[in-house]
Amino acid sequence: MSDTLTITDNRTGQTIEVPVDGHGAFNASELKKLGVVSFDQPLLATATAHSAITYIDGEAGILRYRGYPIDQLAEQTSFLEVAYLLAYGELGTAAQLQAFQSAVLTAEVDTDRIRRHVESFPAGSHPMAVLISGYAALGALHQEAKAAVHDAAARKEMLPQAMAETLQLGALAIAAHVGQSAGTPAGDSYAGQFLRACGNAIAPKGMSEEKLAVFSRALEVLFILHADHELNAGTNAMRAIGSAESDAYSSLAGAAAALYGPLHGGANEAVLKMLAKIGDVGNVPAFIESVKNRDGKLMGFGHRVYKNFDPRATVIKKVVDEVFAVSGKDPLLAVALELEKIALHDEYFVSRKLYPNVDFYSGIAYKAIGFDPAAFTVLFAVPRTVGWLTHYDEMMSAEFKITRPAQVYVGAGERPLPAR
Ligand code: CMC
Repeated sequence: MSDTLTITDNRTGQTIEVPVDGHGAFNASELKKLGVVSFDQPLLATATAHSAITYIDGEAGILRYRGYPIDQLAEQTSFLEVAYLLAYGELGTAAQLQAFQSAVLTAEVDTDRIRRHVESFPAGSHPMAVLISGYAALGALHQEAKAAVHDAAARKEMLPQAMAETLQLGALAIAAHVGQSAGTPAGDSYAGQFLRACGNAIAPKGMSEEKLAVFSRALEVLFILHADHELNAGTNAMRAIGSAESDAYSSLAGAAAALYGPLHGGANEAVLKMLAKIGDVGNVPAFIESVKNRDGKLMGFGHRVYKNFDPRATVIKKVVDEVFAVSGKDPLLAVALELEKIALHDEYFVSRKLYPNVDFYSGIAYKAIGFDPAAFTVLFAVPRTVGWLTHYDEMMSAEFKITRPAQVYVGAGERPLPAR
């Protein structure tokens, strides 16, 4: 048996034989020989990268970064270790990690300039709008990012700087949205620095060191879970923009814009709004019926790849318990648990393989830490920046062409402009 596909155009009788590689992929551009294209708007059966970063088996609920299971990474490592692992492919040695940690946590950031960018927006502006535009603005600041497009070493050097800037930009955008003053990053963990940088935005009356320690570790785990997720919509945008040889900061702006959407990273904010609207456990059955009648979606449920469970959701449930132990319980958790209980047994959701995804419980944890719902997608984007830059670097390090899909034209044929 040969590792090939035989494709016959029954309209013409023409046949082509195309090799299938060891991963089950064939080169779809071979179809051009038959004069046909594959139509795949959601890219359900179209791979656009050979990637060695993240492995997902959606049926089995498996997620691994560089081969390491996500639950082990979440329990035993720090976000900076995971960032190093994603970017460099291996767990660093103690010395390598030390150098990387210090490069990120002590990078020189032009905070004043970032603050001026944030303050140029009207009061109450959504922090994702500020973040997206902030990446583009940082591109103007870092002219060297253009040369880094073709320079592997320079691309690696950008990561600590971009992570440090993202931390400041995200924290300032979150604080400005709620009209509170930001703080100064301090401490030896990325999430801990981020929490301190958010300042009064999460704790207008201050926060005990004990609470801060628990919340920092919880956020660290949430950051690890969000660091990468192979070719989702945001990462696809990062790669597509990068394929035009745009600089990494401009590409980040596009990736973050894709993440902002409610079907992607914006779902965590939408979940919390949905839970608040339902309000009480007693209203859950009626809400489920409205979803089944297609009045709206059950936000935080369903996933393109995971069809049995999202392994990140399992870890997040534990994080929620740890956060609640110091923050006190949020009554919205009872609403979420009831929604999950009913949905997991309802034929509509079971037959469509809809399960809670990463966004279903993450918002509850963020809220308990003290974040405003508008901050939630920023909390997704901040760690995902590492994944985006790693994918950008992986793509630039290999052979690629500009991503330029074909279309199926369905518009008018040629027609003369009416006489004027
Ligand atoms: N609530 C109700 N019905 C749903 C939902 C939902 N959350 N998700 C999918 N369905 C239905 C959908 O209407 C369709 O039904 P039918 O076949 O009868 O028309 C069926 O399930 C299959 O859905 P699909 O739209 O073909 O699935 P997809 O793979 O294109 O979309 C998704 C995946 C995540 C966009 C979708 O499940 C969704 O919109 N979920 C809610 C938003 C959400 O929580 N997004 C966060 C995703 S995880 C974080 C991230 O990585 O971004």
